[in-house]
Amino acid sequence: MNKAKMKLSHLDLQHDLRVKFFKKPKLQQLFFELTLNCNEHCRHCGSRCGEVSAAEMSAASWKNILDQLKEDYKDSLPQINVTGGEPLLYKDFEEVMSYAHSLGFKWGMTSNAILITPEVAQMLKRCGMNTISVSIDGLPDTHDEIRGLPGAYRRAMEGIQNLIDLNCFDQIMVTTVVNHQTISQLEPLYEIMSGIDIDSWRVMGIEPIGRALEHPELLLTDEDHKTIMDFIRSKRADNDPVTYGCCHYLGLDYEREVRDWYFFCMAGITVASITVTGDVMGCLDIDRTQKGVVQGNIGSRRFSDIWENEFKDYRYDKGEDDEKCKNCKSRKYCMGGAFHTWDLEAGTQRLCLRNALFPDK
Ligand SMILES: C[S@@+](CC[C@H](N)C(=O)[O-])C[C@H]1O[C@@H](n2cnc3c(N)ncnc32)[C@H](O)[C@@H]1O
Ligand code: SF4
Ligand code: SF4
Repeated sequence: MNKAKMKLSHLDLQHDLRVKFFKKPKLQQLFFELTLNCNEHCRHCGSRCGEVSAAEMSAASWKNILDQLKEDYKDSLPQINVTGGEPLLYKDFEEVMSYAHSLGFKWGMTSNAILITPEVAQMLKRCGMNTISVSIDGLPDTHDEIRGLPGAYRRAMEGIQNLIDLNCFDQIMVTTVVNHQTISQLEPLYEIMSGIDIDSWRVMGIEPIGRALEHPELLLTDEDHKTIMDFIRSKRADNDPVTYGCCHYLGLDYEREVRDWYFFCMAGITVASITVTGDVMGCLDIDRTQKGVVQGNIGSRRFSDIWENEFKDYRYDKGEDDEKCKNCKSRKYCMGGAFHTWDLEAGTQRLCLRNALFPDK
């Protein structure tokens, strides 16, 4: 079987699976946005941290959510992923996460890692953290500049080493968000990542969300997207654990070549999130101010009730809503692409990587 045919047969299977999931979703990953406080001020921050603030939920509220989840999903607990803001700034972090661990939840975290001293790494071990993704967005000076904090790179790299030294976490990942000005740093960053004992390096493009929208100079050109894909593909061809970290349909040539499996936007299908104020939605990268994103609030309804009875806006082929998608020959496999780049009011997909990568096909 040739490679294109094999990919098409996989994509056909995946299409059927996706249709089944629309009818019978299965919660596998649940994001907790513990705080919107942050100790960095990234130019690209999708959550606009530093500009927005919200009253945080108490430890008792998060523990109550964990109790409900344990009761309602006892046969197959979802993995909890904590994020923010900087999750380590949440004042009752240890109390909530050790409780999650005691109930048997597997959990992971995304962090800028500048607070991960040897003592904090020990605390994460005590709380049973399984996986972590640390953000490194460029070479030292560039990382510090993007993140608005001198010394951020050094502290994050020390944080990673403090985690590695404990030799107890299932997966330590680094995530790099590439922008138009850092494309040329991919190779030197690869050299750095190859020199540390991490499990994988996730490379993703800056998404046109949050504060990134105010920095058009950082947004990727079609050529940049292609450079990123070719870079990742070449490293993976040598069996290096480099993965494309964004969720977009890429077209047959790149699908499965830059990540382990094919595109599948899982927001509201296998993935849900609880925001800092208890709102329940698909994925935290979706602009929550848009109508139709938030499905309910944990203060007035049980999570499982919202998950099972709402989310209709997420569980259909969104390609129906956009004229371009409707007539697109990739629609069966893409279904309108990633939810987080949808303009729900206009009913259009704002970022089609398939067309950016293959404008002539
Ligand atoms: C919102 S942060 C929260 C966790 C933590 N503060 C950190 O920086 O890792 C989660 C991840 O989203 C990434 N991110 C933020 N804005 C983004 C954007 N506009 N496009 C792509 N990724 C973005 C960050 O770089 C980070 O890897
Ligand atoms: S990307 Fe992370 S570290 Fe940067 S401002 Fe946003 S939440 Fe803070
Ligand atoms: S036009 Fe729409 S359906 Fe087609 S590849 Fe782009 S986002 Fe996907």
